[in-house]
Amino acid sequence: MTLTLTYCVLCLHEHPALIAFLQDLLQNHADQLCVVELNCMAACDDNPAMIIGVDYIPRITLTELEGRVQAHLDTSDAP
Ligand code: FES
Repeated sequence: MTLTLTYCVLCLHEHPALIAFLQDLLQNHADQLCVVELNCMAACDDNPAMIIGVDYIPRITLTELEGRVQAHLDTSDAP
C-alpha cells in the first residue's frame, strides 16, 4: 500500500535533515510512496508540518517522521 506524504516545500527548506531523509526515502522506497509537494499547505505556523496518510502532524521532528514511515514500511512488508 502506498503511503502519501504531503508537505510544503517552502517551509521544508528550513529543515535540511527532513529533506535529506525524504530524498533517501524516495531513492529506496519510491514504489511505496506518493509525495505531494505544495507551495503552501496553510500550516505556516506549524512549520514543519506534514500530512502522512490522513494524519496531520504539526512541527514534525525527524524522529517522528522516521518512526511513522518505518511503521508503514514494516506493515507493507508483512506477508
Ligand atoms: S508557506 Fe509553508 S505552509 Fe504556508
